[in-house]
Amino acid sequence: MQNNLRPESMERITTKELANAFIEEQIAEVRAQVGDKKVLLALSGGVDSSVVAALLIKAIGKQLVCVHVNHGLMRKDESENVIKLFKDGMDANLIYVDATDRFLDLLKDVSDPETKRKIIGKEFIKVFADEARKLEGISFLAQGTIYPDILESIKQAEGKKAVKSHHNVGGLPEDLQFELVEPLKLLFKDEVRVVGEALGLPHAMVYRQPFPGPGLGVRCLGAITRDRLNALREADAILREEFANCGLAEKVWQYFVVIPDIKSVGVKDDSRYEGWPAIIRAVNTLDAMTASIEEIPYAVLHKITSRITNEVEGINRVLYDLTPKPSGTIEWE
Ligand code: XMP
Repeated sequence: MQNNLRPESMERITTKELANAFIEEQIAEVRAQVGDKKVLLALSGGVDSSVVAALLIKAIGKQLVCVHVNHGLMRKDESENVIKLFKDGMDANLIYVDATDRFLDLLKDVSDPETKRKIIGKEFIKVFADEARKLEGISFLAQGTIYPDILESIKQAEGKKAVKSHHNVGGLPEDLQFELVEPLKLLFKDEVRVVGEALGLPHAMVYRQPFPGPGLGVRCLGAITRDRLNALREADAILREEFANCGLAEKVWQYFVVIPDIKSVGVKDDSRYEGWPAIIRAVNTLDAMTASIEEIPYAVLHKITSRITNEVEGINRVLYDLTPKPSGTIEWE
């Protein structure tokens, strides 16, 4: 672990100039490390993997092979936007895998949150490994590891227990052992964002809210069904659009919709209409260990409620979750 510790003399990257210097340094390091070999990257579209992708495209161009796995639990238009940004915009060597059916078939009737997380994590590695095996001449694996990940693994090595088994890309199988390329491993999140913008990534993507690895899978509570998952995706898109319209998207740390597996009686077009409630969550936090609730103006809540209940099939109520962490966690599962 010693090599992975950030030297005390390392200056915090707060400006474009410092970011550019870091980028030049990393480009030289990556080129020296990989030579003319190929590098594989699981590109989720999250901030860290996106910044690694942009950096490596600059350093080694088509020697980088990005694999974007759509597990069917992405938010609305998310995979399409990854393709637009990297394949169309940066001419990346990008393989898109739509594994929706694989994931949703495995998750059918599974209601325990930790089991869902494990299935999603394991299947993700399988799908990614299947793609990696189809490729030839890959010698390196790039990862968007950042400094807090290193600190977290030190803590875990010391035997401290986690509340939830947050997964990202875990270990690959034995036959797929690559040398790692981790250009962001000494950076804190705020520095990664500054570097991302200096690399030309859009502001909204670099400052986007965190999104858990298991995606909408832990927000479609209990056993996931396609109709409830679709309703969740649409409702979440409306929430995000309205937060962007009124400036809350820039201000609130994390905001999303959760849909529990219960129905209540409602009315639509003068008839009984049984539907799910959409639960809105909007929290602020520094480190995700504790969180407080954003006081959303009532007018915004009314607009979101009206749009979700009118536009989303299957939802007849909207609730606002006022619970801080603790006693809640940020996610419901
Ligand atoms: P909780 O729910 O534990 O969430 O208060 C704290 C932060 O972690 C995110 N989260 C996850 N991230 N895999 C992830 O990559 C997961 O399984 C997972 N579960 C929660 C959550 O969105 C919040 O930002």
